[in-house]
Amino acid sequence: MSTVVLIGAQWGDEGKGKVTDFLAQQADMVVRYQGGNNAGHTVVARGRTFKLHLIPSGILHGDKMCLIGNGVVIDPAVLLQELDSLESQGISTANLRISPRAHVIFPYHKSIDMAEEEQKGNKRIGTTCRGIGPAYTDKASRAGIRVAELMDREELAEKLRDALEAKNKLLARVYGSEVQFDYREMLEQYNEYADRLRGYVDDVSILVNRAIDRGQKVLFEGAQGTLLDLDHGTYPYVTSSHPVAGAACLGAGLGPTKINTVVGVAKAYITRVGEGPFPTELHDRLGDHIRERGCEFGTTTGRPRRCGWFDAVIARYAARINGLSYLAITKLDVLSGLDTLKICTGYRYKGEVINEFPAGLKVLAQCEPVYREVPGWREDISGVRRYNDLPQNARDYIERIEEMAGVPVALVGVGPGREQTLVLQNIF
Ligand code: IMP
Repeated sequence: MSTVVLIGAQWGDEGKGKVTDFLAQQADMVVRYQGGNNAGHTVVARGRTFKLHLIPSGILHGDKMCLIGNGVVIDPAVLLQELDSLESQGISTANLRISPRAHVIFPYHKSIDMAEEEQKGNKRIGTTCRGIGPAYTDKASRAGIRVAELMDREELAEKLRDALEAKNKLLARVYGSEVQFDYREMLEQYNEYADRLRGYVDDVSILVNRAIDRGQKVLFEGAQGTLLDLDHGTYPYVTSSHPVAGAACLGAGLGPTKINTVVGVAKAYITRVGEGPFPTELHDRLGDHIRERGCEFGTTTGRPRRCGWFDAVIARYAARINGLSYLAITKLDVLSGLDTLKICTGYRYKGEVINEFPAGLKVLAQCEPVYREVPGWREDISGVRRYNDLPQNARDYIERIEEMAGVPVALVGVGPGREQTLVLQNIF
């Protein structure tokens, strides 16, 4: 049995797409288990850059089974666009399978997402406005429409009628929105989507469990990051799903005894999009420098990301919540050329140093980072292919991270390409 769950150990955008793509080379199957097209994975492969939002990046390898589990919320318009774009670039999508238990995003979810954000004003979450939260809300309140119902014309007709009646009222009366949706038009459109997607629908739980029983290698690809988890993140500035490792079981339909290894992906620094407290955020020119060098602009929304120093309090928290076996550190090359680097080792709160990530946002907002300074390196490391060829200070930096997080580092990224990945430990 060889199963690996790969998760984001920070606030998302850690470079999971690239690490998944690297590990997918060895895997037989790649599975998405939560989130939706709020995720954006950039993968550089075959000399080209691919931006994927829903389809597991393993699709670029051709021979891998790629599954979208029940825990994902699917916008069929986006999924079809992605399928068309891959096919037009000569990449087969024949190995994709979608769970009939996954919930479907409708245009009213996006309108509600936007209306809610607008109503919150300066207390907004800063969502991606892709309808993710409202789709999960419908799932929890048992008003959602799943892929299974999408595939059944009669059921869809009935469920969509009920849903639209409620959502049009909600938009007009609660949010004062002028947006109203036409039932016939939407039904026709979603019937078309259903016809195009029907061939991809299959029982993901059966496929995953069978693959594991056969001894195949399965990679579970998390989206977003630990601090955006609905339970364990910086609530309410979180997403509406569970990006943590435990959710792989729930979101794909397998038991916890089937997971062998958990890898947490973290940048050599840290970023965040959207609102909410961020202790090591850099508000100065250094923050701008990291944003420019690291191309820290959202794949999904294009928003500039907030940048800061590596936070070992968060790394330790992610290690505990996810039971990390390894860390994969990405974008180490972005830090080249800085004289001194800082790693946050703890937070100063009301005169005392705390070492654990607090639950209260008010507390987090008042936390001052306690830093350990380490010397940087001048060399361009993007051409390095073996860990031992990194400058001594770069290796020392990685070792400090290992020591402070209490987790061994298995992979180090020195650039966006698949070959710019230094292997310290084999994961599969
Ligand atoms: P939502 O997932 O669109 O509801 O957005 C909720 C929060 O999660 C916002 O702060 C978003 O910026 C953040 N978020 C959602 N998806 C991602 C992602 O893939 N990377 C980073 N942040 C994300």
